[in-house]
Amino acid sequence: MEPLIRMVGITKTFPGVKALDGISFDIMPGEVHVLVGENGAGKSTLMKILSGVYQPTSGKIICNGHEYNQLSTKTSVEEGIAIVYQELSVINELSILENLFVGKLPEKKFLGIPIVDFKAMEDRAKSVLEQVGIRHSPATLVGDLAVPEKQLCEIAKALVSGAKVIVLDEPTTSLTTSEVDRLHGLIRELKAKGCGIVYISHKMKELKAIGDRITVLKDGTYVGTYPADSLSLDDIIKLMVGREIKGTYFADKTADELVKNPVIFEARNITRSDGTCRNVSFELHEGEILGFAGLVGAGRTETMEAVFGAVPKSAGQVFLRGKELDIHEPYAAIKQGLGMLTEDRRKLGFAKNFTCKENIAVEPYIKESTAGGLGGFLDESKENKWASEQITALNVKCTGPEQMTVDLSGGNQQKVILGKWLAADSEILIFDEPTKGIDIGSKSEIYILMRRLAEHGRGVLMISSEQTELLSVCDRIAVFHGGELKAILDGRTATEEEIVRISTSEQ
Ligand SMILES: Nc1ncnc2c1ncn2[C@@H]1O[C@H](COP(=O)(O)OP(=O)(O)OP(=O)(O)O)[C@@H](O)[C@H]1O
Ligand SMILES: [Mg+2]
Repeated sequence: MEPLIRMVGITKTFPGVKALDGISFDIMPGEVHVLVGENGAGKSTLMKILSGVYQPTSGKIICNGHEYNQLSTKTSVEEGIAIVYQELSVINELSILENLFVGKLPEKKFLGIPIVDFKAMEDRAKSVLEQVGIRHSPATLVGDLAVPEKQLCEIAKALVSGAKVIVLDEPTTSLTTSEVDRLHGLIRELKAKGCGIVYISHKMKELKAIGDRITVLKDGTYVGTYPADSLSLDDIIKLMVGREIKGTYFADKTADELVKNPVIFEARNITRSDGTCRNVSFELHEGEILGFAGLVGAGRTETMEAVFGAVPKSAGQVFLRGKELDIHEPYAAIKQGLGMLTEDRRKLGFAKNFTCKENIAVEPYIKESTAGGLGGFLDESKENKWASEQITALNVKCTGPEQMTVDLSGGNQQKVILGKWLAADSEILIFDEPTKGIDIGSKSEIYILMRRLAEHGRGVLMISSEQTELLSVCDRIAVFHGGELKAILDGRTATEEEIVRISTSEQ
């Protein structure tokens, strides 16, 4: 069988970085070809060459018998390639319907004049939205959707074009288990229709569940291509990272022992007037990491937004070491010792026109500032210290603190965001999907770092949609359903089934 696409000897250099070095890669009809590698290995760059966003420095691309030295975005679409980018590219100001058809409006002729066929658009949109599991009307503004729904919208966008080759660059970073299952069902249908799928993900379990072949990249070079069933998860990790990864990161003490430690942080009866969280209470003890599990929209992020002052709470109190905090905006939260790494990397995570150094310095500056954030001086030597410490601690792959954050790979951008909260040295850190897009080796380093923070008296709260992560790091796991905290489980003994059961049960 002929491949749908063949990329041969692709090299790409950016100033100061050789992102890809002579990579060959092909996609067969009816297969899922998984592409793995550490953050900055070159996965997204290779796929952006396929979608025409980047031009290769050398190499060629063969599609449908046509040979190209480079593709434009237009040719790429014409050759039947659709891509779901790692960074959300949906437009908040447009409706779902408009987003799905940006740049590809269906036309019909009216009295010989081409006009937009709105009926066709709506019918197609409805069926695709149903396929991916978006229940909102196509007229809903994308800006009103939650991050995971935006991600589904992004996937729907690729499906609308009826492409033969679909590239999914980390499509599941914000999706929970049931949504991932649905997406995988959809991918199987596309496979059966003869589509070729490229699948990039740092969620290791998914790779074997969905992949037919696996190609590994390391630092821009080709490691190999293997049938998925010929490799164990450990084999894949070793090929990617070059070492074995530890399984669990619990405290030395058990959860029962930890809850006897002093309470360092408490949220009491947190309630929002929009009903997204109701009467949520929890305590965090010295030395423990408390996790938050639940489906999308279960109220985890919504509770933390209220705790942090990003959204007003209609009732509830927050205590730090027994003292009630007065938080009505994030600035007040930061000043009183809280930090919150948010889920929406593009919207709230980092400033696009800032270097790594400037981004890392943002939160520590706010923490040090006076007069409501108006007072305080820029101090270059401090900035350099904060930045270099975090770049080293988190092993950020960049050309230096002066590199623009936006030019880093997705996982390395996430590390910069993590770095600014670590640099601020807050007493309590709320992490919403902290390891989103981060490779397995770096994840392990981050868990070790979080554990060290907890051991040094910092409070660590972690929301995650990856249950395996919660079950290997958190001493206790709070499970949410329908805006309420339903149960708190012991992280060492809880199971995925138990979490799923509580987060989906109706009572
Ligand atoms: N526009 C750009 N300008 C400069 N360097 C870039 C640019 N885009 C990517 N790079 C560099 O190319 C290398 C490969 O990045 P790429 O985004 O392909 O990695 P990745 O494998 O997708 O990583 P991740 O898992 O973190 O998403 C990185 O060192 C990155 O900093
Ligand atoms: Mg990437």
